[in-house]
Order: sequence, then structure tokens, then C-alpha cells
Amino acid sequence: MSRIPPPQHRFEDLYAHSPDPWQLAERAYDRRKYALTLAALPRERYRSAFEPACSVGVLTAALAPRCDRLLACDLASVAVEQARARTRGLPGVSVERRTLPQQWPTPADAPDAVPFDLVVLSEFLYYFDPAGVADVLHRARATLAPGGTLVAVHWRPPAEEHVLPAERVHAAVCALPGLVRVVEHREPDFLLDVLVRADAPAAEVSPAAREGLR
Ligand SMILES: C[S@@+](CC[C@H](N)C(=O)[O-])C[C@H]1O[C@@H](n2cnc3c(N)ncnc32)[C@H](O)[C@@H]1O
Repeated sequence: MSRIPPPQHRFEDLYAHSPDPWQLAERAYDRRKYALTLAALPRERYRSAFEPACSVGVLTAALAPRCDRLLACDLASVAVEQARARTRGLPGVSVERRTLPQQWPTPADAPDAVPFDLVVLSEFLYYFDPAGVADVLHRARATLAPGGTLVAVHWRPPAEEHVLPAERVHAAVCALPGLVRVVEHREPDFLLDVLVRADAPAAEVSPAAREGLR
């Protein structure tokens, strides 16, 4: 079995055959997973969020009400068009065509957005080999604001198009220096981890502390 990352045109081909190749807008499985992802965010609101590999924008639309500003991106033009259509009229949302990690937003090309106080890596990291995962995570860490939140959520069972299993990519996420895990959710179908920058005040780490409960 090939272990190299799928070429970019593979994703364009997928969208050419089906506008929503993973049926993200259809399945109860994904609705539940998105609800768990949103529920796991330690803050009610975020100033500037980044959602790479947004596909058709279902999670983007769900994240938008929690964010003053939300930048989403995908490498596939059909995905970007659909995500734009799904989020049209939602304040603060922009969807761009970007290929990562090369086009990870920087302060130079996205000065209003970077640094991010929320980065959501949903069903994305397993397309990279270990060096690619390390590159994405380095950029995510480098663009995370003080106290910022990093989310990773990935399908767990083996999948032929995945270069690395979810366990491997989540181990890399959780080994990132300078971050502390605040949510660890495991179930047979997917892994969900939420980390915050270790320099965060206690109130960022604990929603209960933010409201004076401890
Ligand atoms: C399974 S979908 C992700 C769905 C979405 N993140 C969610 O959780 O609802 C995978 C997406 O990753 C995008 N993608 C894969 N590699 C990428 C890369 N290197 N840069 C940007 N997007 C990429 C594909 O085009 C595809 O839309």
C-alpha cells in the first residue's frame, strides 16, 4: 500500500465526482461529532479562528457563531465554492483556496487574522507523512496566540487514503511543546483532543475557573 500523501488533484477529482465526497452535510455521525467538537471548546467566543481543510464548510458554519472572525481554507476549488455558499451572510467568515502547509496564513499575508486564538484541525492531519504533520503543527503552534486553543479531531479506523493513523497524528499533537491538553475524548470512531497554550491563565484552561467556580 502506498504511504505517500495523496496528490492534490486527487481531491479535485473527488469533488468532480461528488460535490460532498464524505457526505459531511448528510450524516448524523458528522452532526454528532461536530456538536462534540464545539462543546469541547473551552471558551465561549474566539477573536480569530482558523479552520484548514474546511471541505464543504459544514463545520465552518457551525464554528462561525463562536468566532468574531473565522478564516477557513481548502485546496479544492469546488470545496471552497461550496463552503463560501454555505457561510454566505455569516459575519466574519472568509473562505480561501490555500494548500497547506505551504500557504499556512502568516502575519504578512493575513495581518488581521494572525495570530489565531483558535485553530481547528479536523479530519486533515492523516493526509501527511510524519514530516508533513510536524510542519503543519509547527506552523499551527507558531501562529497560536497566547492562551489560544488547538483542536484535533480525526477518524480512527483504518482508511486507505490516510497516510498515518489517527493515533499517530494525535500523539504528535499532544507532544507539541508549550501546550497543555484540556480535553481528551476517545471513542471507537474518532479521537478528539483540545489543547491550550501552556502560558494561558487558569481561566483559559478551565471553563469553571472562568466563572469563579474554582
Ligand atoms: C475529510 S475532508 C475535511 C473535512 C472538514 N475538515 C471537516 O471536518 O468537516 C478533507 C479535506 O482536506 C482537504 N485537503 C487535503 N489536503 C489538503 C492540503 N494539503 N491543504 C488544504 N486542504 C487539504 C481536501 O480537499 C478535503 O476537502
